Amino acid sequence: MSHLGSAEGKVTTRLIRESKGKKIVAITAYDYPSARLVDEAGVDIVLVGDSAANVVFGYDNTLPVTLDEMLLLARGVTRAVKRALVVGDMPFGTYHSGRKQALRSAVRFLKEGGVEAVKLEGGARRASLVEELCEAGIPVMGHIGLTPQSLHQMGGYRVQGRTAAAAHKLIEDALALQQAGAFSIVLEGMPAEIAGMITERVSIPTIGIGAGSKCDGQILVYHDLLGLSFGHQPKFVRRYVQLRDIISKALTAYVDDVRSGRFPSEEESYHLSAEVREQLEK
Ligand code: KIV
Repeated sequence: MSHLGSAEGKVTTRLIRESKGKKIVAITAYDYPSARLVDEAGVDIVLVGDSAANVVFGYDNTLPVTLDEMLLLARGVTRAVKRALVVGDMPFGTYHSGRKQALRSAVRFLKEGGVEAVKLEGGARRASLVEELCEAGIPVMGHIGLTPQSLHQMGGYRVQGRTAAAAHKLIEDALALQQAGAFSIVLEGMPAEIAGMITERVSIPTIGIGAGSKCDGQILVYHDLLGLSFGHQPKFVRRYVQLRDIISKALTAYVDDVRSGRFPSEEESYHLSAEVREQLEK
């Protein structure tokens, strides 16, 4: 029995919906090895996040990543994950032109990427889309607060909901997503007090990132948590290891070993049998 209470082990959207208050653990992953490691560590949700644009493809923001690129990543992830729920993040521009486009994109994510649910950014203004997807049998995770795809509209990556009016709007957004059928909501970049109020007001689980400790679960970006990302790290990131340093040291040692002739050694080389050596020497 896992901490979420599933006897058979596999995490489903239904189990997540029923896991309010149970400290749901979520993380992003973008390929087979990262997905295997996070699944084996026991996380509950693996998000194939559009943060891939930053941490995998090296863009400054999430806007350029395409659905085809996300599908390629999703296929590696879904081949690796046995237990966690895999959610695909709908990239910018794949659900902004209306319900038909949103349905087409989400269907491709499930059919070609193998994910079990999709996530999309936006609150009340996305509620009818969320409803359509849910009616089509596609589970949806909402995402409100600091929504990176609205970077230009927000005027930068700013903590949202700092005024009473903005906080009320976030609460309304969360309620609209719940009403539309979302099975959970990511709360990103907002005061802990507001995330706490939202978490109390909705019956579906909230998954926080930069939203304090009152959420029903937490999510971090794989590369941030492991010290593999470049550039600015927001203060909510807890870095559990500095893998960049460890990897750099190993790679520098490899470069030195090849240049100095220390690699490969005799033990790392294949050799002929004595018999064949003899035949060749005749
Ligand atoms: O793309 C992503 O990684 C995300 C999470 C940070 C929630 O949307």
